Formats: sequence, C-alpha cells, structure tokens
Amino acid sequence: MTGFAVVLVLVVAAAGLLRWRRPAWYWLAFGVALATLRVLVRYGSVMDACGLTVLPARWRLALARTTNRPMPESRPPRILRLRPTRTGLVLRLKLRPGQDAFDIAAALDRLRHSFSMYGVTSRELRSGVVEVRMTGYDVLKRVQMPATVETRPMRVPVALRQDGSVHYRDYRAIPHALTLGATESGKSVYQRNLVVGLAPMDVALVGIDCKQGVELFPLARRFSALADNPDTAAELLDALVTRMADVYQLIRAQQRITVDVPDAEIAADIWDLPDELRPTPIVVLVDEVAELALFAGKEEEKRRDRIITALVRLAQLGRAAGIYLEICGQRFGSELGKGITMLRAQLTGRTAHRVNDETSANMAFGDISPDAVLAAIQIPAELRGIAIAGDSSGGWHRIRAPHTSLRQAVNLCNRHADRTPTLPELAPFRPAFAGPAAEPVPSVKPSPATA
Ligand SMILES: Nc1ncnc2c1ncn2[C@@H]1O[C@H](COP(=O)(O)OP(=O)(O)OP(=O)(O)O)[C@@H](O)[C@H]1O
Ligand SMILES: [Mg+2]
Repeated sequence: MTGFAVVLVLVVAAAGLLRWRRPAWYWLAFGVALATLRVLVRYGSVMDACGLTVLPARWRLALARTTNRPMPESRPPRILRLRPTRTGLVLRLKLRPGQDAFDIAAALDRLRHSFSMYGVTSRELRSGVVEVRMTGYDVLKRVQMPATVETRPMRVPVALRQDGSVHYRDYRAIPHALTLGATESGKSVYQRNLVVGLAPMDVALVGIDCKQGVELFPLARRFSALADNPDTAAELLDALVTRMADVYQLIRAQQRITVDVPDAEIAADIWDLPDELRPTPIVVLVDEVAELALFAGKEEEKRRDRIITALVRLAQLGRAAGIYLEICGQRFGSELGKGITMLRAQLTGRTAHRVNDETSANMAFGDISPDAVLAAIQIPAELRGIAIAGDSSGGWHRIRAPHTSLRQAVNLCNRHADRTPTLPELAPFRPAFAGPAAEPVPSVKPSPATA
C-alpha cells in the first residue's frame, strides 16, 4: 500500500513539474487524457450552464405527457467528433434548431473556464456545424512547430497560431505582404523564418536590407541578389522590373491561342506554363522599408521616386510573373511621401507586431479590421515576436514565429546554397563570398562599449 502511495506521489510531482516547466510535454503525457475525460463528463452540464441547450421538440414533450413519462431534458449541441491534438482538443458540434454559430462564439470564455482549458476559439465549418478549438496551455509562450507540416510549393509554415494550428505564408494565395512593428518587436525574426522556410524550395531570394545588411547578408549564400543601400536597391528593383517584362513576353509567346486550345491550358501566369519553361519565382524581401522612402536633397528625392515607382509596379504586376514582395518596416504611412499608400493598398497580407501607437496599427489594419488594430496595440512588450496576422477572409489571428537564431538560419541557408538560382538579370547584385563559409566579417574594429 505504501509503495503505491509513493508511486502516486511521484507521478503527481512529475506531472506538476512538467506542467510548470514543459507544458507541451505535460499536455501529451497527462493533459490530453484528463481534458478529454473532463469534456466528455461535464459536457451536458456545462452546455446547460452556458445557455447552449434547447428545449426538447414539441412532439417529445407531447409524447411524454400522454404516456405519463418523465419530461425529456433540454439538449446540448450534438458532438460530431472530439479529436485530441498536439496542443489541445478539437470539438465538432452539430447545432440544434434555433442555435447559431454566434451563440457558441459568445459563450467561448465561459466554455474556457468550465472546461479548464487555456484558450477556446470557434468557427463555422458549414451551416449548422461549428468547430471549437481548445488549447491546453499557452502555445505561444514557447513556440514549437509540429514535426511534420503540410508543405506545398510557395507555402511556408512560418508561425504558430494561438489556437495551436500552423500559420502559413502562402505566396500564391497572397502574393505581397506587409509586416509592421516597433523596433525590437520581432519583424526581422519573422522574416528570417520566412527565409528558412523558403530556402529548401525552388525559389530565388532577393534581399534589400538597408540596415547595412546586418539581417540578410549573413544568409547571402541562399540569395540570388542583395542590396544594402538605397542606391543599389534602386538598380536592383529596376532590374526586377525588366525581368518582369521579360517573363510577360515569355507568357505571351506561350499563349498562341487557337480555338482548339482548352481554356485550362491558356497560360496567364507562370504557374500555367509547362514545368520546363517556367521561370523561377522570386521573393523580394525588404527590411526597414522606410530607409528607401526617406530622402535629403534633390538627388535623393529622385532616387526615392524611382524606388517607390518600381515597388508599386512590382506590386501591381508582379504576381503573374512570379515576383512576390515581402516588406517589413516600423511604419508605413502617408508621411513617407507620395506613392506609399498606393503601394500599401497592393500589399494584401498584413502582419503587425507590437506597435507603440494606434496610428501604426492602423497602417496595417485600419482599412481591414478595427478589432485587429486593438489586438495589435495590446501585444505586451515583453512577449517579442507575438503578432497579429490578417487572413484572406478578413479575420485575424495572434501568431508567433519560432525563435530561429541567426546561426540556425545561416546554417540552413548554407546547406541549401546549391539551390540558389542564377538569374542573368540580377547577376550584378549576386553577393560575393570572401571565404568558404558565410561568416559575417567585422569591417569596423569593434570598439569597447562605453556604458
Ligand atoms: N518569435 C520570437 N520568439 C522569441 N523571441 C523573439 C521572437 N522574435 C523576436 N524575438 C526577440 O526579439 C529580439 C528582436 O527581434 P527583431 O530583431 O526581429 O526585431 P525587429 O522588429 O526586427 O527590430 P528592429 O526594428 O530594431 O530591426 C530578438 O533578438 C529576439 O530576442
Ligand atoms: Mg529588424
């Protein structure tokens, strides 16, 4: 008997320790079974208490009355499926007549407390069927991407959503995106994760990093072209516009439409071309975009206009030519001059890290969703990397990218260096390598800190 008690105490202590230090392991070891049991046992009473039950059908009441049986009870939504996942539980519910998805959405917080879960979200799958996703612990505190993720060309698993699902950056669905955030909020780490995700794919990476190249140049081995100052950036963007025109010529040449070509075979973008002819898609990553839009003096103003015009053209026409823009900055509003709001309107994907004021959040979501603006302002400063990402349907999610260090990213880019395509138009911007490894070499002597 004492032996059993000792084992029990040990198991409880181990569970407590795991729950504290490694919530993800705790969930897999104990949490998932306990939570499933709790949901199944408490389901009826919780739904009743949350006001999610409906009265029995009239004929049942009438039947009970005539046969003198006990009155049937109110019924909660029927559970179609209960699926445990790596981070929580997914409950699929069939609504009863008279209920709607909003009833469930309005009761989410009550459900969360009643089932002792960390977070609960819901969405309507089809008429009358609602999926309730519950997480057992704070999945964004220490982001761990699932070991196997669905991969498709040009679709990068870049972060984890609050409900435990994977957030993808799908370039074919959303060609261009804007990432905003105050300084030190995690924009560059997010962009680094994109590079890491794109590195193993058949894609050319082009980087413009006006922060003297500190973020992107260490990853140079996987980049087909890099620019670290506005002058080079202007030339690089012009070269991209030229390439875009060439790709359009190629698509035109392939069209040769005659009456007997089936509709599906008429090429209107690079993905319709046969594999052997398809030009490599290009992702253009711009870090600190404001550096490209600021100017002092007439000469620089001309350069700025040239850069913004090229960016607007790429954003307007790039998609079909397989050129995708990924722009990061601290602010991106009309104060940066003409053309900026026009460019912003073309950047469909929006992600906002922590921002210091409402105007910055409005630059990302003001024209999309007021809720998302509020959520972006509320991101706490100590949780760097948390962001609000808009999705194509107008909804939004809290996401956080895994904390990939520069070293990990460098290693991965070096491993996939042989995949770097050589694009003749961009050859002058191809980064040169001094040594065998892409070690960042300090060109200025490090001076001792004076603080
Ligand atoms: N997803 C994340 N998870 C954990 N920590 C993160 C995450 N993203 C960023 N951080 C932390 O925040 C620090 C700053 O991130 P990052 O360099 O990406 O900020 P930034 O927004 O690019 O800032 P700046 O505007 O100054 O370039 C990182 O060094 C890292 O320690
Ligand atoms: Mg940065």
